[in-house]
Amino acid sequence: MKKSGKIPVVPDDESLAMTVGGVRFRNPFVVGSGPTAKWLDQLVLADRSGWAGASLKLAFDPEPYISLPPRYRFFRKEGYHAFTAESRLKFDECLRLIESGRKNTKDLLLFANITYVGDKPGLQGWMDMARKAEAAGAHIIELNMCCPNMSFNVTLTENARTEQTGASLGQNAAVVSAIAEAVKGAVGIPVFVKLTPEGGRIGDVARACFEKGVACVCSTANRLAVADFDIENLGQGPYRLQDEPTLACFSGPWIKPMALRDVVEMRRKGGPAARVLGTGGISSWQDAVQMIMCGADLVGVCTETMLHGFDFLPKWLKSIREFMARNGYAAVRDFRDLAVERLASADRLTLHGGYAEVDLEKCNGCGLCEGVGHCRAISIVDKKSRIDRAECLACSTCVDVCPRGAISMKETGILERKSCKKN
Ligand SMILES: Cc1cc2nc3c(=O)[nH]c(=O)nc-3n(C[C@H](O)[C@H](O)[C@H](O)COP(=O)(O)O)c2cc1C
Ligand code: SF4
Ligand code: SF4
Repeated sequence: MKKSGKIPVVPDDESLAMTVGGVRFRNPFVVGSGPTAKWLDQLVLADRSGWAGASLKLAFDPEPYISLPPRYRFFRKEGYHAFTAESRLKFDECLRLIESGRKNTKDLLLFANITYVGDKPGLQGWMDMARKAEAAGAHIIELNMCCPNMSFNVTLTENARTEQTGASLGQNAAVVSAIAEAVKGAVGIPVFVKLTPEGGRIGDVARACFEKGVACVCSTANRLAVADFDIENLGQGPYRLQDEPTLACFSGPWIKPMALRDVVEMRRKGGPAARVLGTGGISSWQDAVQMIMCGADLVGVCTETMLHGFDFLPKWLKSIREFMARNGYAAVRDFRDLAVERLASADRLTLHGGYAEVDLEKCNGCGLCEGVGHCRAISIVDKKSRIDRAECLACSTCVDVCPRGAISMKETGILERKSCKKN
């Protein structure tokens, strides 16, 4: 981690600022809970780089029942980050971090990302935890209903039961919203709920939370999946200094399309007044704009900060300001949801009729396009690709297959919806 360095001063800018749950965020960017929000010097750097908030590493009360030295692996080509071994905070460590974070940062909003695993009856444990985090100085409580790497991982891998935390709890709208309501009643600071996409009910769980008046729902946590492994050496997992392959927590660019979908669902279920924090696979300012256009008010970033630290943010903020000026947006709210409104349902698409055409100058007769498995239109004649327009479905796969950019689509006009359906 760079300890010093020339981080450009980020002037506060009302066009990027917003208020969520009565708390002002200087811009939409929050360091997602994880290994880059675990130590004081990380918080100091994030504050200096202009991040609006940081969600501290998950803390357990009384203490984590699984906590291991971390083993991470970033699969650059595939675009995902995967891990299973991870260390978590004990609650008293979290409280000390909040206290020192408040003393040593100026503008950074601190989220206490918490889960209760003790034996206090009912919801008392959650409420007490939240009260203590508030007393230590947390600006926001973020209930962790998302971690797939503790009970959910154990249940899925071994079919065994353990304490119910994170993604195991987070699929149950009634339980999540009851905990959220109780915690909301116990503290004066805003309560956010970070939800899981596991179980496919994130929109419904979000709606249940909104109905209980939570300040903001957050997505997307890691997804459990199987990382690439060596088929010649099954005993050796993909991690360095760890033997076994596992169901791993996936993050990074690979999860962005699914994270965007989660945010769209949350926004649609919550309506325009709801507040949503969207996280998952954000690795550029354009990704962040897409996340906002899909319905996010705030944008969380974790894996990118693991790989590159914090000081890319000023460049992102500058680019977003330029993008806003180019497009006439005075505030982030002006482009929030724009993609949600545009997403058409499968039965309401406007399709253009057409066919594929080959540029014979560019075609070298390699024959790759002839191999398209669902196409009866292409044949190679005299070392050139020939396309029979009558057989062409206009699907456009050949355009993607051709390595020489020799194929393009020609349009013949808009198809009637009725004729689209028949195909
Ligand atoms: C190593 C690692 C540890 C994480 N730990 C936590 C955690 O303690 N609490 C939490 O809510 N999310 C945790 N996350 C999830 C991230 O905050 C984020 O939601 C997820 O990684 C997707 O965003 P990204 O693609 O920007 O990383 C962790 C992610 C990673 C990669
Ligand atoms: S893939 Fe492209 S270059 Fe190869 S035969 Fe088809 S059109 Fe020609
Ligand atoms: S557009 Fe589809 S159907 Fe038409 S030639 Fe290309 S691959 Fe074949």
